[in-house]
Amino acid sequence: MAEIRKLEPEDFHYLLTIEGECFSQGYSRYFLKMIPVLFGNTSYIAIEGQCPQGYVAAAFRQGSRQAWILSLAVRPRYRQLGIGKRLMQAGLRGLAAAGAREVFLSVSPGNQGAISLYLGLGFTVDTEVRDFFGPGETRLLMKKDLENIY
Ligand SMILES: CC(C)(COP(=O)(O)OP(=O)(O)OC[C@H]1O[C@@H](n2cnc3c(N)ncnc32)[C@H](O)[C@@H]1OP(=O)(O)O)[C@@H](O)C(=O)NCCC(=O)NCCS
Repeated sequence: MAEIRKLEPEDFHYLLTIEGECFSQGYSRYFLKMIPVLFGNTSYIAIEGQCPQGYVAAAFRQGSRQAWILSLAVRPRYRQLGIGKRLMQAGLRGLAAAGAREVFLSVSPGNQGAISLYLGLGFTVDTEVRDFFGPGETRLLMKKDLENIY
């Protein structure tokens, strides 16, 4: 079973592999490089030996106790095995331990798999934002309160 541990800067090449398999327009190499550096305390990788399976990146809004899930991705061959859920649980625990009171994320309204996962973890739909990334690119903003849960 994959180990879930905090992301380290040396995991950069693993992030490239995961991101490349999961998103057609994923984060830039520069941003992926910076995730463990800036957000390593609240971001996690699922890995078995030298084989990365997925990651979650989470960060605080500066100067607040509000946090965001920036990315969640599981490589296609490792999906439907509970890894995404375990990653999210680790991210939420890490955020709560670091003092987060509420966590937000955005998701495409058509991404039923991810939405089911988030609903199952207690997220609710906060708002639907039209043109979030540009014309026609609606996103759901989902929210979860973290107080007194872990
Ligand atoms: C979304 C994603 C992270 C899910 O990862 P996963 O490891 O397959 O998810 P899990 O196996 O932990 O599933 C947990 C729950 O999510 C839901 N779920 C996950 N994938 C689903 C799917 N394809 N269809 C329906 N429900 C799904 C189920 O409710 C499942 O609950 P269960 O335990 O009762 O079956 C993965 O499909 C992925 O990386 N997709 C591409 C990137 C992406 O869309 N990321 C989210 C961006 S907001």
